[in-house]
Amino acid sequence: MGWLWVICLWAALQGSEDFITKDEYAKQLYYNPRGISCAECHGAKGEGRSIARYKHKNEVRTFAAPAINNVDFASFQKALNERKRGMPRYFLTDNEIRTLYYYLQQRQGGKK
Ligand code: HEC
Repeated sequence: MGWLWVICLWAALQGSEDFITKDEYAKQLYYNPRGISCAECHGAKGEGRSIARYKHKNEVRTFAAPAINNVDFASFQKALNERKRGMPRYFLTDNEIRTLYYYLQQRQGGKK
């Protein structure tokens, strides 16, 4: 049984990052992308939602985040790499952007 212990120790030293599946990693990134969660504004499935209602000069306005589960990858990537109105800048790597895109694709129930 000695070898099993060694493997466990080795595994522990690699850090937990290696033990999550791609799906789990993608979910984590979507909910906690080194900043405010995408879900906070775009909804759990990237379906988009209204973030806030506020009054500006006595006029009720809503601040909404668009659906992001229906954009093609090129626009998705572009949106995350340039300054958007009301959208925080994240400085995500290409791989992270790809992972987030993957996450939203998964939430579509198989739609590619
Ligand atoms: C504070 C709220 C907020 C958060 C958090 C946020 N967004 Fe956004 N996002 C917006 C708003 C508002 C827009 C619309 C910007 C515009 O109209 O210029 C937007 C636009 C986008 C677009 C462009 C959609 C299109 O139709 O072109 C993408 C893609 C996107 N967000 C992805 C993300 C991802 C991925 C995350 C997490 C890493 C994220 N957003 C986090 C508010 C947010």
